[in-house]
Amino acid sequence: MGYPHKSHPRETAVLSKHFGDPDARSLDGWKKRGGYRALEQALASQPAQLVDTVKQSGLRGRGGAGFPTGMKWSFMKPGDGKPHYLCCNADESEPGTFKDREIMRWTPHALVEGCAVGAYAIGAETAYIYIRGEFDEPIRRMEAAVAEAYAAGLLGANAMGSGKRVDVHVHKGAGAYICGEETALMNSLEGKRGNPRIKPPFPAVSGLFSQPTTINNVETLAAVPHILNNGAEWYKAMSLSNPKSTGTKLFSVCGNVARPGNYEVVMGFPFKDFLYDLCGGPPAGRKFKAIIPGGSSVPIQTMEEAEATLMDYEGFVAQGTQLGSGGVIIFDDAQSMPRMIARLARFYAHESCAQCTQCREGTAWTTKILERIVDGQGTFEDLDTLLSIAENMTGKTICVLSDSCAAPVVSGLQKFRHEFEALITGKRTSKVAVAGGAAFAGAATP
Ligand SMILES: Cc1cc2nc3c(=O)[nH]c(=O)nc-3n(C[C@H](O)[C@H](O)[C@H](O)COP(=O)(O)O)c2cc1C
Repeated sequence: MGYPHKSHPRETAVLSKHFGDPDARSLDGWKKRGGYRALEQALASQPAQLVDTVKQSGLRGRGGAGFPTGMKWSFMKPGDGKPHYLCCNADESEPGTFKDREIMRWTPHALVEGCAVGAYAIGAETAYIYIRGEFDEPIRRMEAAVAEAYAAGLLGANAMGSGKRVDVHVHKGAGAYICGEETALMNSLEGKRGNPRIKPPFPAVSGLFSQPTTINNVETLAAVPHILNNGAEWYKAMSLSNPKSTGTKLFSVCGNVARPGNYEVVMGFPFKDFLYDLCGGPPAGRKFKAIIPGGSSVPIQTMEEAEATLMDYEGFVAQGTQLGSGGVIIFDDAQSMPRMIARLARFYAHESCAQCTQCREGTAWTTKILERIVDGQGTFEDLDTLLSIAENMTGKTICVLSDSCAAPVVSGLQKFRHEFEALITGKRTSKVAVAGGAAFAGAATP
C-alpha cells in the first residue's frame, strides 16, 4: 500500500512520517531518522522520570479506551521484588481498524524502541509483542527488527551498554478477536485459552504469569520515543481542542469514501474537514449517510452528528459516540443500515468467547433477529426484543465484547429506525449492491 495522500498539508505525520519509505525499516535507516536516541536517553534516566514525562504529555491509550498512559504506568510499583511485564497489544482485529499493522510494516523499530522504553519505565525486563496471527508481513517485519536490535546490542542483558536488561519477544496469536482484550491476551500468552479474566485483580497487581503487568497498544507505545525526543510540551501542544486529548492520532478510513487509507491528524481536528477534504468525500454520485468513527464497537453517528464533531476523546462523546480505536467506517446512501448492522452482529457472535451467558446468547440471538429482519421476515416486536436483549448485554459481562455488539444495534435503531420499519412493512428490501461485510476493511480477514 502506498501513501499518496500522505503529503496532505493538513495531516501531521509523526507516527506515519515514514510510511511508504522502505528505507526506514532497517536499523540503519531508522537510526538515520533519529531512532534509538530516545531509548539511550531513557536508559540513562530514572524510570520515575519517564513515567512523569509521559504523564505530562497527556498521552492516552490508542487501543480503544483512552486511559491515560502515564497514570497506567504509575500503577506498577517499583521495588516490589516481583518481575514486571509489558505486553504490547498488536492484535488489531477491531473491524475498520488497520493502523497498527502499518506502524509494524513500515516502522518496526519505532515499536521495538517504544516497547523497550516502556518496559524500562515500568520496571520490566521483558516485553512481549502479541501480534494478530494473520499479520504475516507485520510479524516478519517485527521479528526482523527485534533480531537486528539484539545483534546490535540495543536489547538484551546489557541494552545499549547501560548494564540494564531489556528483552523484547514477538508472539503470534491465532486470529481471535477476543485475544485483543487485555486479560484474554495474557491468558493466550500463557498458553491458555484466550478467555477474559474477571477484574479485579487488575493487571498491574496480577497480570501475566500472575505478576504486575502493563498492557499498551502499538500506537500508544510507538508515540513514546517521539515524546522523549521532543518533550511533553511539544506533544501537548498538538491539540486543537482541549488539554485532555493531546498529540496526533492515526485514523483508518474505510467503506464508501473516495480516498480510504490511514490519516494522521492532531487531536481536535474538525471531522467534517477530515471527511470531505482529506478523505475526498463520498464516491461520485453518492452522499454520506452514517459513520462508525471508532472501530465497530462504538455507536453509529448520523452525518449531522459527525459533521459537528471535533476529533478527540471528548469531541466524539459530545456527538453521541466514542473515538475508540480510530477505525472510521463510512456508509453512503446506497447502503442498508440494517444489513450492515446484521453483518457486524454476526462478527461479534462468531468472536464471543462464550463464557458469559449475556454475550454468548445475546450476540447469537441479536444476529438471528437482525438477519430475519433483513430477509423481510421481521416484526415490530423484533425491534423491542433487540433493544431488550441489548440492555441485558450492556455492563453485565466479564469484558465489553457484548457491549460492543449492542452499541451499533441500539444506535442504529435509534437513528435509522425507519430503515428497519421499511423492511418489516415490506416497503423496501435490503438487497443492495454491497455484499455483506464488504464495507469493512480489517474485519475478520487481514
Ligand atoms: C473484545 C476486545 C478486543 C480488543 N482488541 C484490542 C486490540 O486488538 N488492540 C488493542 O490495542 N486493544 C484492544 N482492546 C483493548 C484492550 O483491552 C486494552 O484496553 C488496550 O490494549 C490497552 O492499551 P492502551 O491503554 O494503550 O489503549 C480490546 C478490548 C476488547 C474488549
